[in-house]
Amino acid sequence: MAITDTLIPAVDISDKQTVPVTLNGKNILICKANGEFYAVDNQCTHQRAELTGGRIRNCYLACPLHGVRFDLRTGQPLGELTRVPLKTYDVSLADNGNLQLELD
Ligand code: FES
Repeated sequence: MAITDTLIPAVDISDKQTVPVTLNGKNILICKANGEFYAVDNQCTHQRAELTGGRIRNCYLACPLHGVRFDLRTGQPLGELTRVPLKTYDVSLADNGNLQLELD
């Protein structure tokens, strides 16, 4: 596992916000829900739409295109459109206040 500093100060992300970042060539979406930070692949497993700007409610992120909701904790989708989970990444807070992701 490689740990990567995203250079995004945690304080700059508000609740229910999505922030796309490119790290090691991967398009990743950082999300804040209920005060917790999550990171997932920024590509829906239904028809590959970007998830940036998707609505967050509780711990679920809705795809802006057809509305599949993904559990940000596990990546698991709800509903019938896709059964393929989103890849999730561990997020932690570094001493400097930036978010840190574990990439593999
Ligand atoms: S592309 Fe995301 S739900 Fe269809």
